[in-house]
Amino acid sequence: MDLSYDWTRHHARTDKTPSIFTRYAITTRLLCPKVAIDFGCGNFRNTKFLLEQGFERVAGIDPQPYGEVPLGAELHRQRAQDYVPEICEFDFVLADAVLPFLDFADVCTVVENVRRGLLPGGTFAFNVLGTEARWKTPGDRPFYFTLRREEIDSLIDGFTMAFIKEYRQDNFVDRCIHKYEIILHRN
Ligand SMILES: C[S@@+](CC[C@H](N)C(=O)[O-])C[C@H]1O[C@@H](n2cnc3c(N)ncnc32)[C@H](O)[C@@H]1O
Repeated sequence: MDLSYDWTRHHARTDKTPSIFTRYAITTRLLCPKVAIDFGCGNFRNTKFLLEQGFERVAGIDPQPYGEVPLGAELHRQRAQDYVPEICEFDFVLADAVLPFLDFADVCTVVENVRRGLLPGGTFAFNVLGTEARWKTPGDRPFYFTLRREEIDSLIDGFTMAFIKEYRQDNFVDRCIHKYEIILHRN
C-alpha cells in the first residue's frame, strides 16, 4: 500500500491558528510546562502555541513540515513511529490530526514510546478517526486509517483517561467526520 502523500497543498491552506483541541488540552495538564512534543507538527501552528504557553523545549516531529521552524522550537524530520524518546523526557505530548495517517501497529508503537517518554502525571493529547469516518468523493486525499473503540481502549494501559469525546458530523458536502478526541494522563 502506497501511503506517500504530498502535504504541501494541505499545509498552504490550513489554518495558522492553534486548534481548539490543542487549546483545550493544554488546560488539562497536571504538570508545569517544560518539554512538549508535537507529533505531525505540519505548519507549526500548535508548536508556536505551546512555546507561547511557556514550555522550555518544544520539539516538532514531522517528515514533511511546512514553513519556518519557530524560534525556540526544534524539528525532527522523521516519522512519529520512529521517534524513540529518552525515559521521562517530556511532560506534554500532542498528536493533532496525525495518528489517522498511521496504521494501528504504528499507532501502538507511538503510544508505547509516549508511555516511555512521558513523566508520571504528564499529558498525551491526540485524536483518531472512528470507523464511520469517510470522504465520499474521490480526489486529492491522503490515505487514512480508522480505529474501533475497542482498539482505542486497548491503547490506554498505563494511562488514566482524562477526557474522551466522540464526534459524528455528516453535514459536509463530501465527508463524514467521525472522530475521537482523547486526553490521557500518565500514571
Ligand atoms: C493534517 S496535517 C496536521 C498538521 C498539524 N498537526 C496541525 O494540526 O495543523 C498531518 C501532518 O502529519 C504529518 N505526518 C504524516 N505522517 C506522519 C508520520 N508517520 N509521523 C509524523 N508526522 C506525519 C504530515 O506531514 C502532516 O504535516
